[in-house]
Amino acid sequence: MHPVPFFSQARSFRESWPEIQKNVDAVFDRGKYSHGRQVAQFERAVAEYTGAEFAVAVNSGTDALVLLLRAAGIGPGDEVIVPAYTFFATASAVALVHATPVFADITDTGDYAIDLDAASRLVTERTRAIMPVHLFHQLADLDALTAFADRHGIDLLEDSAEAIGMRWNGIHAGLHGRGGVLSFFPTKTLGALGDAGMVITNDAAIAADVQVLRHHGRMGRTVDHIAGISNLSGVSGTNSKMDDIQAAVLLAKLATLDADIARRAELAAAYDQRLAGIDGVTRTPRVVRPTAPVYYVYLIEVERRDELAEYLTARGIGTEIYYPRPLPLQPCFAGERNRPENFPNAMAAASRAIALPFYPDLTEPDIDAVCSAISEFYRGGR
Ligand SMILES: Cc1ncc(COP(=O)(O)O)c(C=O)c1O
Repeated sequence: MHPVPFFSQARSFRESWPEIQKNVDAVFDRGKYSHGRQVAQFERAVAEYTGAEFAVAVNSGTDALVLLLRAAGIGPGDEVIVPAYTFFATASAVALVHATPVFADITDTGDYAIDLDAASRLVTERTRAIMPVHLFHQLADLDALTAFADRHGIDLLEDSAEAIGMRWNGIHAGLHGRGGVLSFFPTKTLGALGDAGMVITNDAAIAADVQVLRHHGRMGRTVDHIAGISNLSGVSGTNSKMDDIQAAVLLAKLATLDADIARRAELAAAYDQRLAGIDGVTRTPRVVRPTAPVYYVYLIEVERRDELAEYLTARGIGTEIYYPRPLPLQPCFAGERNRPENFPNAMAAASRAIALPFYPDLTEPDIDAVCSAISEFYRGGR
């Protein structure tokens, strides 16, 4: 038996340790452990990496979404169109600003992106924004999304939490509309040693408002970085600041990000090759757009998915179900329209998709072990 955990970055973190330690030492010496110098340096580094004019660090991708929505002025009575098949936070962030998430099905092309035909039937006079999600390894169609937002006079806000390193016509994910987010949750392509996130934008007003909101509304004081632009002084904010220890780790990891992305592409190719021709594996990741994919999750679709997951678990191979229940069917989003028959593609993906172990520390023998176990399962192994 060759166990393979679903996620482990222990070797990479140890390799980056001298650089991490140097950055963490700088934190010890400063005495400002949250929202301090490492955070400011990390914001500058991400702005440079992505080409964003503004990068505003916060404590998670979820808070980044909430603050981005608040900065865009979305609130009670507003509707935001989101895909039915995504991580919970895409829709919960909309609910947390007291607006309504309106769900559109995803396409059936294998890009797991929002279906704009479905979305166009959902636009009402209350619709304020569309929030596409770039899932797993490729971007949603950003030309079509930009045209959609322009046509309906609404904002394009990107849930680009999974999309660091992905560019469309040379422009990084998150920067095609009013703003986007990044998550640095440990499993992400750029992962911290805990939670962290960011809003990236080219819109000075959005950046200024997120800076105010992440720190209690600055207790009514004006913003120091972009003074005068924010009109939120005096508005109640929250505490969503990033810890300097996480920024210290992320700064060190950012140096290896492009190498990590290249390694992820090699691993995805190794999986593709070994899974080809296994009966029962009905879909491996497809690249449906002419943009370079960045593999964050390696997700396949299979027959008898739950049995396969159990079989692999019994052999010490970790898997995750991304995402087990389309969001319109979550009890907290119950509503007249939110019935399974309105989301056939999301339902199909949720019943067939399974994510395999995938991270730069993974080795080719690990991939051999995972794929042999999958092949054995479909050959009737016990
Ligand atoms: C698509 C998507 N949106 C939002 C989030 C939320 O990010 P976080 O876990 O950092 O709060 C994540 C990551 O978990 C995600 O994958």
